[in-house]
Amino acid sequence: MAQKTLPAPRPTVEDGGHQLFGWLRNMRDEHPVHEDEYGVFHVHRHADVLAVSADPAVYSSELQRLRPDSEALTEEILSVIDPPLHRKLRQLVSKAFTPRTIADLEPRVVELAGQLLDGIEGDSFDLVADFAYPLPVIVIAELLGVPAEDRALFRSWSDRMLSMQVEDPADMQFGDEAGEDYEKLVKEPMKAMHEYLLGHVEDRRKHPGDDLISKLVAAEVEGETLTDSQIVEFGGLLLMAGHVSTSMMLGNTVLCLEENPGAAAQVRADRGIVPAVIEEVMRLRPPITVMARVTTQETELAGVTIPAGRMVVPSLLSANHDERSFPEPERFDPTREARQQIAFGHGIHYCLGAPLARMEGRIALEALLDRFADIHITPGAQLRYHRDGLLGVRNLPLTVRRA
Ligand code: HEM
Repeated sequence: MAQKTLPAPRPTVEDGGHQLFGWLRNMRDEHPVHEDEYGVFHVHRHADVLAVSADPAVYSSELQRLRPDSEALTEEILSVIDPPLHRKLRQLVSKAFTPRTIADLEPRVVELAGQLLDGIEGDSFDLVADFAYPLPVIVIAELLGVPAEDRALFRSWSDRMLSMQVEDPADMQFGDEAGEDYEKLVKEPMKAMHEYLLGHVEDRRKHPGDDLISKLVAAEVEGETLTDSQIVEFGGLLLMAGHVSTSMMLGNTVLCLEENPGAAAQVRADRGIVPAVIEEVMRLRPPITVMARVTTQETELAGVTIPAGRMVVPSLLSANHDERSFPEPERFDPTREARQQIAFGHGIHYCLGAPLARMEGRIALEALLDRFADIHITPGAQLRYHRDGLLGVRNLPLTVRRA
């Protein structure tokens, strides 16, 4: 039998992912399920990523299983627990975080997008600093019912947590080998965020309003309610999950349109395709490129045996570029059927905020198109990307012509 070649070293996302796209294509063909030097199994094909996400009994989200002795307490965080606790907690938070809650936000998101663009003077600005970052962070703060003026605090927490760069993905959760960095970059901001949110939960128990924290305090399913620490964890998850990824999505939208002037002209001529453009941006450049699971038993995937207790990393980016599901995957084509794209995950942990993110994407793009007749990345701009595992810019200098 022909010996398979070892994969070349994985490129970073510093060039916007272009080298990585080619590398992932080779991985899908040659190493669809690949064990790296840390014993972590990476999953590259769309069908296999779907299979992993759909089977929480074998592919658990309880990463704590990797380090049973770790002091990290994750049993209250929705994204890293399994059924039956996950089902119970998701039902409870879904009582407060309903499609209606999200739909009701629409006029306010339109207003905020307009105000942020009103604040921009002249014909050049940084999309991330002036629009793509503040918009989702203000939305999530207002939704939770915490002062939007505190957003510098949220930013300092998320900047630190997202700057944590580790070799072995398991360290991201537990930081055993990462020592001081982990303390400073993850534990400290996490503690500050918890204390901050707990103050708001305690306040809302005494003085309920109509914000999400008050609704979480009141949520009840079959006589069960949420504890303070469950609300704090959920609030923290929303605050962190809810704004940086959305901000990256808005930056990725402008990047995709810059690279595809035909699509930019198409969406200007037909605003009806705005939702399809956002969906295609999410397919081509998913802001969160990987998920993490741990096997509860020995299993087989694409002919590869994965022992019990191993970390499995399904690549959302690779799945969304899989030519087996998306013909000509590197082509930006808003008319393709992109619904199967899995930037928001799949299965029981499917992103709870997806309708909100999609709405923000749609409104933000409409607002930019209304306001500016031309939008271009400033020639010579040095773009800075988020760390691996994410795909999106930290800055995006634009030059525009007003409509
Ligand atoms: C473009 C923006 C976003 C992207 C790309 C994104 C992506 C994801 C992905 C991939 C997952 C699944 C993780 C897994 O299965 O391990 C997820 C889960 C989640 N997301 Fe999002 N998300 C976005 C925006 C939001 C927003 C705006 C919110 C809330 C305001 C949110 C809240 C959540 C929550 C609570 C979960 C956990 C659900 C569960 O475990 O049951 N996300 N997200």
